Amino acid sequence: MKTLFINIKKLVQAEEGTPDVWRAGKEMSKLDCIDNAFLLTDGDRIEDFGKMDSLGEASADLVIDVKGRMVLPAFCDSHTHLVYAGSREMEYIDKIRGLSYQEIAKRGGGILNSAQLLHDTSEEELYRQTLARAQEIISFGTGAVEIKSGYGLTPEDEFKMLRVARRIGETTPLTVKTTFLGAHAFPARYKGRESEYVDEIINEMIPVVASEELADYIDVFTEKGFFSVEDTDRILNAGMKYGLRPKVHANQMSFSGGVQVGVKYNAISVDHLEFTGGEEFNVLKGSDTIATLLPGSTFFLEMEYPPARKMIDYGLPVAIASNYNPGSSPSGDMKFMMALASLKMKLTPQEVINATTINGAYAMGVSDTLGSIAKGKTANLIITREVPSLEYIPYAFSTPLVDRMFLNGVEIKIK
Ligand code: NIG
Repeated sequence: MKTLFINIKKLVQAEEGTPDVWRAGKEMSKLDCIDNAFLLTDGDRIEDFGKMDSLGEASADLVIDVKGRMVLPAFCDSHTHLVYAGSREMEYIDKIRGLSYQEIAKRGGGILNSAQLLHDTSEEELYRQTLARAQEIISFGTGAVEIKSGYGLTPEDEFKMLRVARRIGETTPLTVKTTFLGAHAFPARYKGRESEYVDEIINEMIPVVASEELADYIDVFTEKGFFSVEDTDRILNAGMKYGLRPKVHANQMSFSGGVQVGVKYNAISVDHLEFTGGEEFNVLKGSDTIATLLPGSTFFLEMEYPPARKMIDYGLPVAIASNYNPGSSPSGDMKFMMALASLKMKLTPQEVINATTINGAYAMGVSDTLGSIAKGKTANLIITREVPSLEYIPYAFSTPLVDRMFLNGVEIKIK
């Protein structure tokens, strides 16, 4: 079926030549747009686009008059923990009363709290809760999402999470990539013999994750009090032997060495990076690893933001993701992440759009098919509400952006 969108006020991120795999440094301020445009889709693909006045006799099964609204590629949210059970608002109250993230974790809160809740929740119920979040993020404009395990911390519960994540990919129009994050925290049962948990991840979990094709990537929370660089080294090596490309939770609470170990193993992304300086910049420069920043958790944990402006000025590519999770970012609203990125990290509107579309797509390994409007790419499209300008998108930080969503060329009911 062919669908023709006409009278598009601005077709955003429209790549007419060979599409970029990512945008780095100065290129991040480049955002190709066509004013007063049309777009033609054929099934789930983008077939053609251009200026309205160049539209000839295009035949289509359906014509949609966009009437002065903009069209953007759907967001690619490359770092989430979408599969979790319940919520942790009681810890939020502790936080308001002054406890830090680490203090809450020490009292049995944090990731271990979510692990207990998840253990007590059936796979079906976990799927139901995750599905509601998946529908919520689609309504915010997300078309592709990376989902991690990491609240299981036992083989069975980690596999349960990954099965639920895969099922979200099969039962919703979202493009889903999954990441095995058994190394998210040390479970209480391994207290005092933590290295044995690393052995369990390597010997019991990774082989099953690989043989049952439960994950596309492997991740480690490389941080003081969590997994050391040596642990990370062992786990990433073991994962790579099974074809799992690394991603790393790096430099969130300290200069942890996570960036360095991630780049050493050609991680597709290193994520968080609140603690990043010259050494990390040098290591990232020239690598194939993208810096993924998660301003939702920096905001929620009231930390210093990563030096995004400096990263871009240094020539690095930056992706922005929501980090949707119950502990440090209970939001999957990519438009809010854009607003934080521009206001708090000084990215321009053009840069935040690149960071949440094409660079997000790169960070989850889908930039060949998603993240921009290009001929042959998948038709994952946001039709905006009436917005006066591109700049208005991050500026009006709580005004909903999405009027209509098309994923794989098909309209998704979002209201
Ligand atoms: O990315 N840093 C580790 N993991 C999550 C938080 C998980 C939680 O607190 O439940 C994050 O911030």
